[in-house]
Amino acid sequence: MDPLGRRVAVLGAGKMGGILLSALLEKGLLSRQTTTATVQHEDRAHSLAQKLGIAVGTDNAAAVREAEIILVCVKPQAVEGVMQQIRAAVSSTQLIISVAASVPTRQFEQTLGIKIPVVRAMPNTPCLLGCGMTGLCKGQFAEACHLEIASSFFGVIGRTVVVDEKHMDAVTGLSASGPAYIYIILESLAEAGVKVGLPRDIATLLAAQTTLGAATVVLETGDHPALLKDAVTTPAGCTIDGILELEEGKLRVTLIKAVVKAVQRAKELAYG
Ligand SMILES: NC(=O)c1ccc[n+]([C@@H]2O[C@H](COP(=O)([O-])OP(=O)(O)OC[C@H]3O[C@@H](n4cnc5c(N)ncnc54)[C@H](OP(=O)(O)O)[C@@H]3O)[C@@H](O)[C@H]2O)c1
Repeated sequence: MDPLGRRVAVLGAGKMGGILLSALLEKGLLSRQTTTATVQHEDRAHSLAQKLGIAVGTDNAAAVREAEIILVCVKPQAVEGVMQQIRAAVSSTQLIISVAASVPTRQFEQTLGIKIPVVRAMPNTPCLLGCGMTGLCKGQFAEACHLEIASSFFGVIGRTVVVDEKHMDAVTGLSASGPAYIYIILESLAEAGVKVGLPRDIATLLAAQTTLGAATVVLETGDHPALLKDAVTTPAGCTIDGILELEEGKLRVTLIKAVVKAVQRAKELAYG
């Protein structure tokens, strides 16, 4: 199934659905004539239709009837209700791609009651600027070609990785929640710059570009972060003194515990 020109329905064009829609339309992966979306409120539907130049409504069943690909972007707690609404309007020739955190592919398969291909995706907010990270997995009736379609969609807004479904909550706790952790680290580094006398804007720039640079080196070289850290750490230099403070403040164990907690919460999200 070639996604180009395919009929796509985006159910729940909020923050994440809106990011995806805008990027896919802008990059030409979707055409305005064959893309529809839904939201909950009529006034939002009206303003979104004007903004994106596509049909936007509030009737999920009507939106999916003609669609070949159905992107589910409502909140996890709303998924079951939306599936009940579209149950009679979908068939196993369609593809469902869901970004709902914590909702397993089998829930779609069971609620819809047909052998429909389902791909689950877990993107993050940097997708907004095309530098996101999306984990993907497939349900029992999805094939490699369905994963390829999902990869091509999320590939326009960042990197993608395919994992077993048992790892999707881990992806949620690490890369979907992760930007929040990095923003806190960035904010703290910038505060540190202010503490030692730098203007705030310069401190923030130094912290952000340093974070981006370090991440780019890890991605481009594939080197282990510990090796790269060692290369910065001159014997009896200043970095080792900074590292000693980080170790005493338990930065590593705190980050590990933060991800573990987020993963635990991800397992519960679909239930409220
Ligand atoms: N934000 C993230 O960083 C992120 C990352 C990864 C995955 N996700 C997943 O993305 C999904 C959406 O999150 P979000 O942050 O984008 O939430 P959001 O901004 O609140 O968007 C939810 C959208 O769903 C619409 N909606 C609610 N009930 C609906 C219904 N019955 N039928 C059709 N549309 C309905 C809402 O309409 P109105 O606009 O009219 O209220 C809203 O546009 C969640 O499942 C979340 O797990 C989010």
